[in-house]
Amino acid sequence: MENQKIKWGIVGLGNIANQFATDLLLLQDAELAAVASRDINKANEFAQKYNCIKAYDSYDALFADDQVDIVYIATPHDSHAELSIKALEKGKHVLCEKPIALSYKDAIRMIETSRKNNKFFMEAFWTRFIPSVQDTLGKIQAGEIGDIKYINADFAFYVNELEGNRMTDKNRGGGALFDIGVYPLFLTYIILGIPQEIIAKSTYHTSGVDLQTSMILQYESAQAVLHAGFVSESDMKATISGTKGRIELNSPWFMADGYSLFKNNQEAVFKLPNLGKGYAHEAVECHNCIRNNTIESKQWSHQNSLDLSKIVDEIKNQIGLEF
Ligand SMILES: NC(=O)c1ccc[n+]([C@@H]2O[C@H](COP(=O)([O-])OP(=O)(O)OC[C@H]3O[C@@H](n4cnc5c(N)ncnc54)[C@H](OP(=O)(O)O)[C@@H]3O)[C@@H](O)[C@H]2O)c1
Repeated sequence: MENQKIKWGIVGLGNIANQFATDLLLLQDAELAAVASRDINKANEFAQKYNCIKAYDSYDALFADDQVDIVYIATPHDSHAELSIKALEKGKHVLCEKPIALSYKDAIRMIETSRKNNKFFMEAFWTRFIPSVQDTLGKIQAGEIGDIKYINADFAFYVNELEGNRMTDKNRGGGALFDIGVYPLFLTYIILGIPQEIIAKSTYHTSGVDLQTSMILQYESAQAVLHAGFVSESDMKATISGTKGRIELNSPWFMADGYSLFKNNQEAVFKLPNLGKGYAHEAVECHNCIRNNTIESKQWSHQNSLDLSKIVDEIKNQIGLEF
């Protein structure tokens, strides 16, 4: 494995699968070995576009392919748990799209399966690995902006067509919280950890999923004010404020190409472009973990995914979201 390419398989050939495959082409030690769709024509077309030699018409066939090292699960949320577990049980490493699952209980089952089969598993929280976030965390750890007291982050955009859309489909685990609310929660969690208290309020689509959700996370001596929604435009900014200064990640913050550090009435600008669309960084982390024979990333660990899933579960209960 040390000098060999890591062979990827992708299941569910939609929007994010295309973006991820584009970035995978940038990595010299990655090979897209197989792709699977429920529709063989789509699979063939995708395979051709990304120089992949194998196209399957079923996800199970890809899981059974012994030439595939790691499977990227790029399907809607409701199938993340079932498909990750299947792939892990077939002896594959797994990178599963966010959110890890629709419930904390399912997240536990996924991670137990990774441990039982001794196979790498990571929730695809790509933002954790982009240079701007890596650098920001380094600055915070070094005490550059003092003690963090306040985080303000949102992820919202106007969705033109709410009907017939995965994002509002209750059967697919839709809603703003699960689709994009996890991002500002993730940012707050990696900086401040698990909150003592959460207050969340939503407005709803007729399907029963949340169209917008606002959240306050209360810590012993800090607070976060977060928002996610499909019904309005937003500047998609994230500000992390400390006792000695603040960091503003460039918009859209979850794929920031840099940030500004404000301190002593001065602004320092940091330019940190992403590799490709930004997904290559998480793939590199998967490669490093697989080559080091470790089943989880230290930077976005199993426990990190479980903690975030528990936070999301609490908000889900508060806003009355049931899948
Ligand atoms: N990391 C990111 O930046 C990012 C961005 C967008 C989405 N995501 C996540 O990625 C996942 C997929 O999102 P997407 O935007 O790529 O969705 P999408 O465009 O709808 O693609 C999802 C694919 O999943 C497959 N699928 C399997 N069962 C399905 C079902 N019952 N209904 C619909 N599709 C089904 C389909 O592929 P086949 O027809 O080929 O089988 C479909 O093309 C979600 O969990 C989402 O949260 C992440």
